[in-house]
Amino acid sequence: MSIDIVRSVAELRARVRYWRDQGLTVALVPTMGALHQGHLSLVSAALERADRVVTSVFVNPSQFGPNEDFSRYPRQEERDAELLDGAGCHLLFAPTVAEMYPDGFATTIAVGGVSEGLCGTVRPGHFAGVATVVTKLLLQALPDLAVFGEKDYQQLAVIRRFARDLDIPAVILGVPTLREADGLAMSSRNAYMTAEERAIAPWLHRALQGVADGLRAGALAADLCPKAADGLLKAGFASVDYMEVRDAASLAPADRLDRPVRILVAARLGKTRLIDNIGAVPEGA
Ligand code: PAJ
Repeated sequence: MSIDIVRSVAELRARVRYWRDQGLTVALVPTMGALHQGHLSLVSAALERADRVVTSVFVNPSQFGPNEDFSRYPRQEERDAELLDGAGCHLLFAPTVAEMYPDGFATTIAVGGVSEGLCGTVRPGHFAGVATVVTKLLLQALPDLAVFGEKDYQQLAVIRRFARDLDIPAVILGVPTLREADGLAMSSRNAYMTAEERAIAPWLHRALQGVADGLRAGALAADLCPKAADGLLKAGFASVDYMEVRDAASLAPADRLDRPVRILVAARLGKTRLIDNIGAVPEGA
């Protein structure tokens, strides 16, 4: 295996500076590891647009709630490094918690508006944790481009917001969600599911498609979403955190398909919390 791994901000900066001195462009792909093809599609998108690609692997404690899965989140650095090497990534940045949050750390990036509602309601503090760590990663690597997945659509909106608000010069690129053959969005958390749960999981994507079909037929979100959530409970999901239709750009609530919208869902299957979303656009748009 030949991909280089650096663990300190100083080493990361030295490497990026070396590339910059040669006139090369740099892209950053932030991840929490347990990499799958969805993550690797971000690396491919980055390689198409930049000369050098850094992937960060850091399970960020500040974005997990007290009763969430921080301690059991899958950690498999050797495998991740092999996958990144095979994908053509140039550098793996894998800092320790102490490197990212040294003693005395006291700053939080809180993003208003788009952080509220949806996952922001169910996971208080989550997006502040994401915004804080992604801001740090962007300032550490100073990339030309940073790549994120539409799989975490609200997260992407939060990142676009603070990058603009804080004049962070990197281009923020969103990449479509990569799915398994049965429609389930690829996720590191899919590994938590039992075989029985895994068989039920594709209903999440089907439920989103049902809402999209209904909107296209002229029905209202207020009628479609509760029915789709009910369908998930009948399929075997334990609970539905939300099933909502939002404006695709602002994430403001949308009641019908009179502009591009995003349909977003979060639901629990056994102990696993799954999220997904799809877009729908008015005919002719
Ligand atoms: P993580 O869940 O590891 O995801 C890293 C990136 O991969 C995110 O931008 C996410 O949207 C993208 N991704 C995940 N599954 C995908 C799929 N099936 N198709 C395409 N892209 C996918 O998201 C995080 O980590 C963290 O919150 C992070 C941004 C790294 C900050 O800690």
